[in-house]
Amino acid sequence: PGLLRASSPALEQRLRGLALVRPGFVSRGEQEELLRELEPLLRRRPYQFDHWDGAICGYRETERWHWGAVGQAVLGRVAAAFPPEHPPQPLVHVLDLHPRGHVRPHVDSVKFCGCTIAGVSLLSPSVMRLVSCQAPGQWLELLLEPGSLYILRGAARYDFTHEILPEEASFFGAQPVPRGRRVAIICRNAPSG
Ligand code: OGA
Ligand code: MN
Repeated sequence: PGLLRASSPALEQRLRGLALVRPGFVSRGEQEELLRELEPLLRRRPYQFDHWDGAICGYRETERWHWGAVGQAVLGRVAAAFPPEHPPQPLVHVLDLHPRGHVRPHVDSVKFCGCTIAGVSLLSPSVMRLVSCQAPGQWLELLLEPGSLYILRGAARYDFTHEILPEEASFFGAQPVPRGRRVAIICRNAPSG
């Protein structure tokens, strides 16, 4: 409560348990340790703004198989968000968004991603918006504070686009959510069948 805004109570009800935010999922100490681990990998790369046709603007990214003790512990907890028969893939996506970067509305490819997406947000707060592919007037917004975990599954993952709002549109209702650099650690499971 307080971290979700929906276009209607019915829409909120429909996505209950399918799109959710867990605030304080990662402690401050864990956030610092994760960033210490990731910073040297991310720092090497320039932010990309020129992929105008891609979903993401103003970003750099990496993927990681092996994590330090804190990363392993955090990812172990993230795995609990997945169905036991469809666990997260071992290669974890790390997305570093520039303060002026954003993620445009998209649905993760069903070729590469299964029923569940779960992401830990670090550094800057941001707003994730889900919009129904069938009925664009139906939307849900998630307020992603640093240290929070979001989970998208089922209909929230397949039938809604998701996006991270750019600085000029970064509002949660009337509340401005100033954007800085944001690092997300994103787990996905494999498509089944
Ligand atoms: C993506 C995506 C959201 C995020 O990379 O496909 O939707 O949390 N990222 O940064
Ligand atoms: Mn996505």
